[in-house]
Amino acid sequence: MNIPCVIALDGPAASGKGTISRLIADAYGFAHLDTGMLYRGVAWRILSVGGDPGDDELAAQNARSFSLEGINEGDIRTKEVGAAASVVAANPDVRAALLEFQRLFASNPPGGEKGAVLDGRDIGTVVCPDACVKFFVTASPEIRAHRRWRELVKVQPTLKERAVYEDLVQRDARDAARPDAPMRAAEDAELLDTTDLTIEAAFAAARRVIDGVFQRSKG
Ligand code: DC
Repeated sequence: MNIPCVIALDGPAASGKGTISRLIADAYGFAHLDTGMLYRGVAWRILSVGGDPGDDELAAQNARSFSLEGINEGDIRTKEVGAAASVVAANPDVRAALLEFQRLFASNPPGGEKGAVLDGRDIGTVVCPDACVKFFVTASPEIRAHRRWRELVKVQPTLKERAVYEDLVQRDARDAARPDAPMRAAEDAELLDTTDLTIEAAFAAARRVIDGVFQRSKG
């Protein structure tokens, strides 16, 4: 039996990794998992019952009984849920509970797909260290904040770009400084800086890397 190929994309918020991941998954016929959604889902469940995302026991309980059922994209994509997700993501018990779900997805892609694309912060370093292709997708904080603000302002019209910038910088710092599975590039990851790239150009660059790896593994 062939082991499914995993493509790992890590990087900070609004770097473009989610969009690039979806394009890769469509182009190669792979399943896609946005792993940030799991942490957002746990955070949203806690916030929706008035709980504190910093309550370690409550967060761990939520992560252990986690399911994607009933999670609505619109509810989890807010700035508040993003900030709370970064808090629960620093909890090692939450990470341990969500690890198995991610590895199962990678080793057994739903729909019988021949591979999986996972995007997050620790995919190439912790979740799937044997991924066949790894990227670390990044961009300047200013451009990332601008992109995120443009998305969020559609549903939160009073939101200021400055507030999004500050929140993003704080979230990056927390995600990179936590002791357990911090956000960082795997040593064998390809760096993709999207600051001056359109999404099409970033995707084309990723594709060249993936095709090169596939060609070499055939040859
Ligand atoms: O990618 P995102 O903005 O949806 O992620 C929300 C938070 O979840 C992020 O601030 C850190 C956390 N996260 C993580 O710690 N590990 C992952 N693999 C994915 C997300």
